[in-house]
Amino acid sequence: MKHVHIHTKAPYDVLIERGLLDSVGALIGRGLGVLRIALISDETVDRLYGERVEHSLRSAGHRVLRLTFPGGEENKTLETVACLQRAMLEGEITRSDLIVALGGGITGDVAGFAAATYLRGIRFVQIPTTLLAALDSSVGGKTGVNLMGYKNQIGAFWQPSLALCDPSVFATLTEEQYADGMAEAIKYGVAFDRGLFEMLYADHDIEEVIRRALTIKGDVVSADERDEGVRALLNFGHTVGHAIEKLTEHEFTHGQAVAVGMIVATRGALRMGYCRENFLDDLIGCITYRGLPNAVIATTEELISAMRSDKKRAGDEITLILPKRLGECCAERVPMSDLSKYFQI
Ligand code: GLY
Repeated sequence: MKHVHIHTKAPYDVLIERGLLDSVGALIGRGLGVLRIALISDETVDRLYGERVEHSLRSAGHRVLRLTFPGGEENKTLETVACLQRAMLEGEITRSDLIVALGGGITGDVAGFAAATYLRGIRFVQIPTTLLAALDSSVGGKTGVNLMGYKNQIGAFWQPSLALCDPSVFATLTEEQYADGMAEAIKYGVAFDRGLFEMLYADHDIEEVIRRALTIKGDVVSADERDEGVRALLNFGHTVGHAIEKLTEHEFTHGQAVAVGMIVATRGALRMGYCRENFLDDLIGCITYRGLPNAVIATTEELISAMRSDKKRAGDEITLILPKRLGECCAERVPMSDLSKYFQI
């Protein structure tokens, strides 16, 4: 079993192994004791894995309240959280009990926020079922919901007590969903770890990719839990990516938009002299090899106009994450009026 220790103020472990879904009850029992557990997933994941996880939890002596909500970004709301919390209250979940978030990023965010705010905060465990959630949202403690159509407007930093990752569940993802996660893996490689990037260009051991990526994420998050500094580096490809998601009206998935965002940001870094090593062909090659798009049909003006509404924008400046070389990046505050110098589509 692979293991990453996340040394945040309240530290926790990530355990990674194929087939681990059948031992989550024992693993939670070993780390956190025998508990009453609210097992939360969306309806699709519940159908696929709910029974199996409930069985594992009950076999280890835990008592289980199995709760579901309708999936999708439109249900990532305060109403869904309140509905789950009402059911937890009726099910007599107390402060010493536990929430288990079984699912993708939306489930982790919703169940994590329910944990952060129920009885002023109870413990929770992340069990990601998508590669994207395994590589990103299951670690780092960002929880929250959307408000009035705006993403993640309400939320809390609330670290899980444990994250359990079973890569065999990725077999039920579509190729597009798997590629979405790969975009995040490429991000860690380009921005932090050349060796990881090189692994992604060939056949790779997915458990090792997750271990390496989460070691990076754990170090960055531990240095800046509340996203006030160095944590911004995790957004490589995302500022342009969010603009592309918006421009394509979400026809591009998150991972597809981030893939193109990484290419655009790297081109900009080369043009402006931040990047001393031209690895653009390798980046485009890897993105293409992993089934992700390498171009977007948009003009520079459209892209910049979409970036104006980025929530990371502060006044008339925006923070761009730019590679300095393969495996290293920097954050640069750039006036909005200078963006056209960086980005020429
Ligand atoms: N997804 C970026 C972060 O956790 O900060």
